[in-house]
Amino acid sequence: MAAQIIDGNALAQELRQSFKARVDALAAKGHRPGLVVILVGENPASQVYVRNKVNACLNIGMHSEKIVYDADVDQAVVLAKIAELNADPNIHGILVQLPLPKHFDEEKVLEAISVEKDVDGFHAENVGALAQGNPRFIACTPYGVMKMFEKGGVDLAGKEAVIVGRSNIVGKPMALLLINAGATVTVCHSKTKDLLFHTKRADILVAAVGKPKMITGDMIKPGAVVIDVGINRLPDGKLCGDVDFDSCKEVASLITPVPGGVGPMTITMLLANTIEAAERKSR
Ligand code: GUN
Repeated sequence: MAAQIIDGNALAQELRQSFKARVDALAAKGHRPGLVVILVGENPASQVYVRNKVNACLNIGMHSEKIVYDADVDQAVVLAKIAELNADPNIHGILVQLPLPKHFDEEKVLEAISVEKDVDGFHAENVGALAQGNPRFIACTPYGVMKMFEKGGVDLAGKEAVIVGRSNIVGKPMALLLINAGATVTVCHSKTKDLLFHTKRADILVAAVGKPKMITGDMIKPGAVVIDVGINRLPDGKLCGDVDFDSCKEVASLITPVPGGVGPMTITMLLANTIEAAERKSR
């Protein structure tokens, strides 16, 4: 039997609708949630993501602006802007779009963002809080995936969860969230010796590697829940995930599509984090 699909667009819409009342309540108290997105350089994918993030904020009545720098800008200029935004009471969230150009020290830039405004959840203190099981800001993509499990009625406790990919943005925080939810977690990556051994026994499989259609139906356990975090552009211009949807949907019990799966949830949870930041400030 073909898998049930978790519709990220529908869930994102439902959540964004529910955010509007919170934004209005904050605005009425003079705390309209505000997000600044900083983009360095002209990476075409990043330009699209940044535009979508700003528009998603504006669509639910939040304040948002983007600040764009040339690729060769001095890091000190960006750090000075972050310091200014840290002190601005109208700005509740600051996001620096990654990747940054080679001459940047990414860690230094991310650590410069105030922990209270780190709506990406990338600051070491926020990652540490998540690791200790008391999260303050959770990285948006894995946070969105957790909402999808909730929507799909997936009970994570005691399940074998396998994550393919160990990035700071997705793989590692995803592992922490799944551990906190009671799953038994394995993180696979480019040095993993026998990927198939791991994927075949996964009740929950999260693919976050950036390789088009690398997870095929013969690699997964019948009835598995398959979450596709990949967004890859094929030579014909079409988008596809890290999961071969057509073959996996015949084996899985639940699956997320690309596009229309995890993607819209990432921005939704960015909105959630920024509203949460504004609510904390307004208390
Ligand atoms: N680049 C790819 N994904 C992300 C994300 O979630 N946040 C930021 N800041 N940059 C990214």
